[in-house]
Amino acid sequence: MKEINVIEKYYDELAARYDEKAKSPELNGQYLNEAKKIFQRYNLQKGSILDVGCGTGLLSDLLEGDFEYTGIDVSARMLQYASQRGYKPIHQTIEGALPEIENQSYDFVVSLGALLFVEDIQASLKYIKRIALKAIVLSLDCVTDELIQASSMTIYDHSKVEILNALEDYLILGWTKTSQNISVNTRMIYRTPI
Ligand SMILES: C[S@@+](CC[C@H](N)C(=O)[O-])C[C@H]1O[C@@H](n2cnc3c(N)ncnc32)[C@H](O)[C@@H]1O
Repeated sequence: MKEINVIEKYYDELAARYDEKAKSPELNGQYLNEAKKIFQRYNLQKGSILDVGCGTGLLSDLLEGDFEYTGIDVSARMLQYASQRGYKPIHQTIEGALPEIENQSYDFVVSLGALLFVEDIQASLKYIKRIALKAIVLSLDCVTDELIQASSMTIYDHSKVEILNALEDYLILGWTKTSQNISVNTRMIYRTPI
């Protein structure tokens, strides 16, 4: 099976349980809450958001303000939940969708817990920067060999990629891979166009 189909199948099957899992104390997911803190710190309260690898659209439960959400995701089932939260869905791969989106067409481009699945991070970053009018917010997981071995999907370590001129660039304890109890460090990025 092609890798993207493995990811699609995995998240289609998880979709109905995803929110419960993401909020569980065992998973200890912190990166979404950290994104919320960044929005608060910079007083970002309204505008359009492109959520890259949006999953069920949990981000929209957390952010306070008046935002319009569009989400890219390869999993139709995850997107169904995002649609119920008011997302405009783009059912496509990140790699396929980003090049087709116009320059500066969303105020904010956010990608949380998703870029580890993308092989060519430089291409994705180039498009994400091009699409964002006001700011980007990203989480980049530190993907260790231990995590790669524990994952049923192909994942990539982009945690050391150079991102120049970021206003925020720091590490948090992002989440825990529950099956093997592996704690994952996550790099949080906030960057505005120069
Ligand atoms: C860990 S979930 C994160 C979802 C959401 N951003 C959150 O933080 O709750 C990863 C999501 O990325 C999607 N995804 C992974 N690789 C993808 C790709 N190459 N193209 C599109 N979606 C992808 C999955 O289907 C899944 O919904």
